[in-house]
Amino acid sequence: MGVQLNIGVISLLLLFTSTAKAQSDVFDVVARYGAKADEETDLRQPLLDAWKEACESTAPSKIVIPEGSYLLSQAALEGPCKAPIELQVQGTVKAPADPSAFKEPNWVVFNRLDQFTVSGGGVFDGQGATTWGKNDCVKNKYCAALPINLRFNFVSNAMIQDITTKDSKQFHVNVLGCKNISFLRFTVSAPEDSLNTDGIHIGRSEGVNITNTVIKTGDDCVSLGDGSKNVIVHGVTCGPGHGISVGSLGKFQDEEPVAGVQVSNCTLTNTQNGVRIKSWPASYPGTASDMLFEDITMNNVGNPILIDQQYCPWNQCNLKLPSRIKLSNISFKNIRGTSSTQQAVKLICSSGLPCEGVELADIDITYSGPEGPATSQCANVSPKLSGKQNPSACSSPA
Ligand SMILES: *[C@@H]1O[C@H](CO)[C@@H](O)[C@H](O)[C@H]1NC(C)=O
Ligand SMILES: *[C@@H]1O[C@H](CO)[C@@H](O)[C@H](O)[C@H]1NC(C)=O
Ligand SMILES: *[C@@H]1O[C@H](CO)[C@@H](O)[C@H](O)[C@H]1NC(C)=O
Ligand SMILES: *[C@@H]1O[C@H](CO)[C@@H](O)[C@H](O)[C@H]1NC(C)=O
Repeated sequence: MGVQLNIGVISLLLLFTSTAKAQSDVFDVVARYGAKADEETDLRQPLLDAWKEACESTAPSKIVIPEGSYLLSQAALEGPCKAPIELQVQGTVKAPADPSAFKEPNWVVFNRLDQFTVSGGGVFDGQGATTWGKNDCVKNKYCAALPINLRFNFVSNAMIQDITTKDSKQFHVNVLGCKNISFLRFTVSAPEDSLNTDGIHIGRSEGVNITNTVIKTGDDCVSLGDGSKNVIVHGVTCGPGHGISVGSLGKFQDEEPVAGVQVSNCTLTNTQNGVRIKSWPASYPGTASDMLFEDITMNNVGNPILIDQQYCPWNQCNLKLPSRIKLSNISFKNIRGTSSTQQAVKLICSSGLPCEGVELADIDITYSGPEGPATSQCANVSPKLSGKQNPSACSSPA
């Protein structure tokens, strides 16, 4: 009896200690997996080894990349994992500068994870300066696809906080097929002349929050592609960059609807555009609805408020056929500041499918160029107006 009890107690103790050990388990890539912060030793294998163990752990685990500067050739961190995982990046992780080191347009990829956190104050540096001058992907569809710094594919219930992505060769962050994913105190940093470096691009994802984030880049700060649902962009500072965009939509067949977008408490400074929704003419059908842009400050911004359903850069399309993307329930409220282009408000909707339920409330945007004050142009839309309207809504001919 006494012996049996002792065995019971011992096995219980063993169970407790192993659980306690697993719970406090920290997978430090330097201390346990041979990573070196020397910018030479590839972090890839240490990181993948740490990931493999952490992912198999049945208790929550934390992988730590300590302070220091590391070289990482490429890594795809795959799920599903058995318990929540946190990747704590304290150091700076650098990509190879040479784009020919990449066979696929990926650098760091997170695949099929649930309950995932990235934290730690660290930096992912794509070392993209070598490529921007050569990147003609915007004009040439057969260009080599350059790597995206961070890809989140089919990730759910995730928090990415206190992380910086710097000088990506292409988009900084791509969010695809995700659910309930938040970016908090996130930083995107690249110069104004970095081509095609969208800050955070979202597609086919539901429940995305981008909060208290600073984005300086050479393309859209935030861009929402098809299938973006219930997206909140709050407290984002954007500039330099091309603004906050929905679209461009309608280029491809079977695009999913965009529905439920709230952009609020944002400041845009010296950006090429402000808040815009763009769709291609002669497009495939689709919809984008329930979008609110509220409490936004514009400082010297081009096209501060823009709906452009004739989006056709480099004349790659047939402008005679209208866009078949239906836009509805779109509000612009309390948008103030200065424009760097005379056309401060431009709502150019599709002649085939006019916009419905567009609202302009408390707009006060000034322009101080030689041509005269700011103008407001509308086509195929009759917005509901309330509060201040400067420029006077839809007053200039389209
Ligand atoms: C969303 O994800 C967070 C983790 O980042 C989690 O705490 C929260 O419970 C999730 N929300 C829902 C509705 O699942
Ligand atoms: C996303 O933002 C909304 C509104 O601010 C908030 O209610 C929700 O909890 C946020 N979700 C996460 C996961 O932070
Ligand atoms: C608005 O955003 C700024 C960051 O740009 C943040 O500091 C502030 O707390 C936000 N205000 C509210 C009411 O969320
Ligand atoms: C319009 O869009 C807003 C913002 O997403 C949403 O809260 C509201 O329910 C929508 N209204 C209608 C009538 O669809």
